Amino acid sequence: MSQTMLKIGFIGAGAIHFGRPEVPWDHASRLEKIGGMEVIGIVDPDTRRSDEVLKERLASPDYGHMYTHCRLLTDYRELLGMKPEVVFIGAPPAYRGSPIDGKNLELEFSRVGIHVFVEKPLSIVPPEEFSPYACSVSEACRANNIVLSVGYMFRYHAAVLKMKEMIAHHGGKVKAFNARYYFAYTEGVNKTWFNTDFFGGPIVEQATHFCDLARYIVGDVDMTSLHTIMLNDCDKGGAGNLNHLLDRAEDDIPSNKRIPRVTLSHWRFEDGGLGTLMHSITLPGSRYQATIDVQLDGLQLSLIDPYESTSILRVRNLEGGNPNQDQDFVFDNDDKYLRELDTFIKAVRQRKQSLIKSSYEDATKTYELTWAIRRQGEVKM
Ligand SMILES: NC(=O)c1ccc[n+]([C@@H]2O[C@H](COP(=O)([O-])OP(=O)(O)OC[C@H]3O[C@@H](n4cnc5c(N)ncnc54)[C@H](O)[C@@H]3O)[C@@H](O)[C@H]2O)c1
Repeated sequence: MSQTMLKIGFIGAGAIHFGRPEVPWDHASRLEKIGGMEVIGIVDPDTRRSDEVLKERLASPDYGHMYTHCRLLTDYRELLGMKPEVVFIGAPPAYRGSPIDGKNLELEFSRVGIHVFVEKPLSIVPPEEFSPYACSVSEACRANNIVLSVGYMFRYHAAVLKMKEMIAHHGGKVKAFNARYYFAYTEGVNKTWFNTDFFGGPIVEQATHFCDLARYIVGDVDMTSLHTIMLNDCDKGGAGNLNHLLDRAEDDIPSNKRIPRVTLSHWRFEDGGLGTLMHSITLPGSRYQATIDVQLDGLQLSLIDPYESTSILRVRNLEGGNPNQDQDFVFDNDDKYLRELDTFIKAVRQRKQSLIKSSYEDATKTYELTWAIRRQGEVKM
């Protein structure tokens, strides 16, 4: 049976929606593969960028037809008026996720019955202001039978799905969760990430994926147990200096707005196990390094490089085989973004929010966790 064409719109013509040579993300290319959609609008105040991406897309012999009627817009309200069935919100978080008029995009779209895919982080406003807004968004989605998904794509990574399965099979009691996320900076950075005012800092903006995995794999965190320390640019001993930033990227950012160079946090999960997170900005080059270790009684699961096209799940298990030997499960070209978006489009077509692994409500808890980590560290500056 042929499917009806979904009318979709993009808010933000940046890397998350249309890619850049050096990054693996690019929602448009996954949606083109999935098919059955027509792009009716792209909103971006930077019309040079949106014009460039539209021209590029139109030139594709395979997918150009999806963009034939696409209009370039500069304000999301124009797209709202065009009544797409689905909207992808990937503008920086400073321009969304807030009760303030003009920044309450998720609420405006869901209230009029438009399905929403929104990127992390959900916002940059403090959780006290954000949480009541998040409740209104979730309520509007429920009332209008709207599917809303948040871009925590690691929840769709095949290795993470396998970890969840193995943990459940092993009885589910995680003793320790340890995430390390090391940022590489010497070949260039997105300048706005480096200013806490625009993206909320490295935990709210980046390590949020690993805070989310902590919650997804182990469960909720006892916030009263959290402890964080940070190494900042202004550290008296000079250990916070970054000497290899290209194009003097931080020169116009005041020292107190520069993101921390190292963040170390630990906590207790509500289920009793312990968690740690280390984020740093030190690595040469542009390749990030990320690893998660999860330990249960007689079982260790290490997820190595989930951002890379090849990632490894290294397992040391008491059950079966040699308990002193690691067993590697290799995941080659596992496209977590494609699985995430394919699930979202299926959920929209079936009007089934239950297919979505990251709802707004759930992602709000991750948002609160990232802020708790950030605030704990900033207090001790
Ligand atoms: N899930 C992931 O793996 C992942 C990866 C990259 C980025 N992201 C998220 O996606 C979001 C965007 O990141 P990016 O890398 O695309 O940034 P980017 O800087 O490449 O692009 C952002 C675009 O949004 C536009 N913009 C600014 N204000 C706008 C507004 N009011 N309305 C519409 N467009 C506006 C900018 O002009 C720019 O073109 C961020 O929240 C980021 O955290 C998620």
